[in-house]
Amino acid sequence: MATFDEIVNELQDKINQETIEAFGEEGFERWRNTPHRGKPPLANYQGASTGSCGDTIQLFLYIEDDRVCDAGFLTDGCGSSMISGSMAAELALNKHCDELAAISGEAVLEGLGGPDCLPEDDQHCAWLAANALHEALGDYYKQNIHKRISD
Ligand code: FES
Repeated sequence: MATFDEIVNELQDKINQETIEAFGEEGFERWRNTPHRGKPPLANYQGASTGSCGDTIQLFLYIEDDRVCDAGFLTDGCGSSMISGSMAAELALNKHCDELAAISGEAVLEGLGGPDCLPEDDQHCAWLAANALHEALGDYYKQNIHKRISD
């Protein structure tokens, strides 16, 4: 009879195998050790986007002198939303604010390795991540327009 540890290991192997099949090796690594997960301590702008699936991705930016110095994300959604949020934050990092609007769902998919890197039903998660980033950019513009008007 299998021990508890053996059952847990077998289950973990099965989950890992299914995740590799869904995301490929690179996506699997990003899912397992998700970079940019969480709200950066100095984040001063944020945005969120909720998909028709009901899940939300939040994107946080720390912007100084119009440049993204730190970026992070949170999601209550699926594995695809995790790796998409992670890639959107990575693409935003070190960019000038003027470059952020060009980070689209397609760009997130490309960053992850192309359209086949997410299961077809989950491709919208890349757009959800890009939308959250654009909302954070909108937050930056709103706050700065208010500042400039009141200066
Ligand atoms: Fe809802 Fe991926 S975020 S299915």
